[in-house]
Amino acid sequence: MIMNLAIVGLQWGDEGKGKIVDYLARNFDVNARYQGGSNAGHTVRYKGEKVIFHQVPCGVLNGNIQGVIGGGCVLDPKILLEEIQNLTTYDPAIKDRIRISKFCHLIMPYHILIDEIREGSKQAIGTTKKGIGVAYEDKYGRTGLRVGDLYNVESFEKKLSINISRKNLILMDVYHAEPLSDNEIFDLYMGYAEELRSMVADDTKIVGEAIDAGKNVLFEGAQGAMLDIDYGTYPYVTSSHTVASSVGIGLGIPPYSVESVLGVAKAYTTRVGQGPFPTEDSGELGKLLRESGAEFGSTTGRPRRCGPFDVALVKYAARINGVKEMVLTKLDVLAGIDKIRIAVGYESNDEMDPFATEQLVPKYIEVPGFAEDISGVRSSGDLPDNALNYINVIEEHTGIKVSHVSVGPERDAIVKM
Ligand code: GDP
Ligand code: IMO
Ligand code: MG
Repeated sequence: MIMNLAIVGLQWGDEGKGKIVDYLARNFDVNARYQGGSNAGHTVRYKGEKVIFHQVPCGVLNGNIQGVIGGGCVLDPKILLEEIQNLTTYDPAIKDRIRISKFCHLIMPYHILIDEIREGSKQAIGTTKKGIGVAYEDKYGRTGLRVGDLYNVESFEKKLSINISRKNLILMDVYHAEPLSDNEIFDLYMGYAEELRSMVADDTKIVGEAIDAGKNVLFEGAQGAMLDIDYGTYPYVTSSHTVASSVGIGLGIPPYSVESVLGVAKAYTTRVGQGPFPTEDSGELGKLLRESGAEFGSTTGRPRRCGPFDVALVKYAARINGVKEMVLTKLDVLAGIDKIRIAVGYESNDEMDPFATEQLVPKYIEVPGFAEDISGVRSSGDLPDNALNYINVIEEHTGIKVSHVSVGPERDAIVKM
């Protein structure tokens, strides 16, 4: 029996969630995003081509999947429409299978502009500059505009005009930037409204009714536990809840809708953007991982910071997510490293404490590496002994079962353990 399953990242994002969602999607009926927005970059290999999803749930290339963008997300219509246009080249019927919550907050040009300006100032934290944080600020400040608002033209125009006049004051007086024109933005968003219209829906009903009808729902997390607004490495985090508890809120469904949570962790650690990273290697290993693992951001193209696997970090992420099983991705990238370092705790304390990350000095062990290219391996018995040993050491230290190992970006490059 398949259960309603949440896929969550156990590090700082880019763990390979997209690949795993695409791999699992054939067994599900609905694939829903519940938080985040166009800051996400989830990569799928489809018929040999690399497809990067930002807002559309990345299982939709499976014809059986209905994709839902939940009310907990923030939506950039421009990026969404470009994404859909690209996906239409693979499947002309893709638009019919995508639904967008009317509760979803819109990312507006002023959100992006303010994010960009802040990133050029002392306030920078290394965001994706997609306007995410500023859009969530307006949502919680109760001045945001939602997808559903697009269809009440008069009130949309009024609210937009108030928002723009407020933002223009900030743009001009605080940031010394040019003001924005509300007419232009109004026309632009009225154009989007028409293009989005057939997809706008009530996520609470679509997903809730699917669950009641016994359908299987795959919840797709974006970012990772260490980027959670509360439980991550604040303030170097994203502006949404990235942990599994966010599913209920982000789709307007009961908390018990999530029957199981599967974690995704890279066989090493990466982070893009600023903020603490205890196992970061700024030397040879970091460079090697970046090159062999093609560690460049899927959304921004920025080089990712790289370093060894951090047991305490993944253990913490698993605890706050309720993860008992995980998929270990990109194990193939470690091939050829003579001795692989794993951080099994810190000098001061063996627990990850997001309040003390700056001070954490990792304690490493070294395990023997494997020379073989494992990207063609499809059965656990064919993995080299030292690769199996690496997996076992991670399982023992984290206390989390590794259910699958991913050995390449393609959908079938996966080994069940
Ligand atoms: P996500 O944000 O968690 O979905 O991850 P991204 O798509 O941003 O980054 C993961 C990158 O690693 C993508 O380029 C994937 O195609 C690639 N990838 C995923 N799994 C594997 C794997 O097992 N091995 C290798 N070599 N690449 C992988
Ligand atoms: P996926 O879903 C990796 C990071 C940014 C920055 C911080 C805040 O592909 O794993 P934001 O634009 O959200 O305000 O930026 O969060 N970040 C991610 N890092 N993967 C992501 O998504 C990310 N989304 C945001 O780099 O440090
Ligand atoms: Mg990504």
